[in-house]
Amino acid sequence: MSSTNRSEARKTHKSDYYVTPVREIENFLNELQKEENQILIKNFLDPCAGGLIGKDKMSYPEAIKNAVYDRYGGKPRVETIDIRLDSLANIKGNYLKMDCKDKYDVIITNPPFNISLDIIKKALNDVKDNGYVIMLLRLNYFGSKSRKKFWEEYGLPKYTFVHHKRMSFTDDGKTDSIEYAHFVWEKGYRSNFTNLRVI
Ligand SMILES: C[S@@+](CC[C@H](N)C(=O)[O-])C[C@H]1O[C@@H](n2cnc3c(N)ncnc32)[C@H](O)[C@@H]1O
Repeated sequence: MSSTNRSEARKTHKSDYYVTPVREIENFLNELQKEENQILIKNFLDPCAGGLIGKDKMSYPEAIKNAVYDRYGGKPRVETIDIRLDSLANIKGNYLKMDCKDKYDVIITNPPFNISLDIIKKALNDVKDNGYVIMLLRLNYFGSKSRKKFWEEYGLPKYTFVHHKRMSFTDDGKTDSIEYAHFVWEKGYRSNFTNLRVI
């Protein structure tokens, strides 16, 4: 993370913890459903689930609950993992060292930037065939020497949903100068192109 604002957030939060706005996730999930209409009745894992005891809810489980339980009455199961003991996740530990293979239809999170590629690769390995891996990443994640090999090996995500409004990850509502997008991979779908939509 290069932004000043998120650097400020990191001073007070360990393990690269900051909070994704639930509304933005709900907005994204609603748009994704227009393309993949069964996605919200599935078995989810958030492997970097966040939350802070006594302060913040876990953003992705909360958004999934709002987008699914409230509007459609479905009951997806959302398992949660986080490395911090003060997180609200059900399971405390390092996702990169856990055996989660073939248990989940959808693995979704906002990963810590410094280990994001390892998280994505593990999630693509762990998710069931034809399942989805969804990560909130900087839009410029596409452009880097270090990830070129990854795109060549795995192809591009099936969808890229670019958030037109800059997100704030801090309580004061300040935004940084970086655009974010939800990157959506479907395991087994490979393309050298991505379907990009601005939401
Ligand atoms: C960028 S925050 C996102 C939190 C939450 N998903 C959200 O979007 O609001 C990343 C989270 O990953 C957790 N984390 C860092 N390294 C991890 C690891 N190796 N395994 C599991 N969780 C990890 C941090 O404690 C933090 O809560």
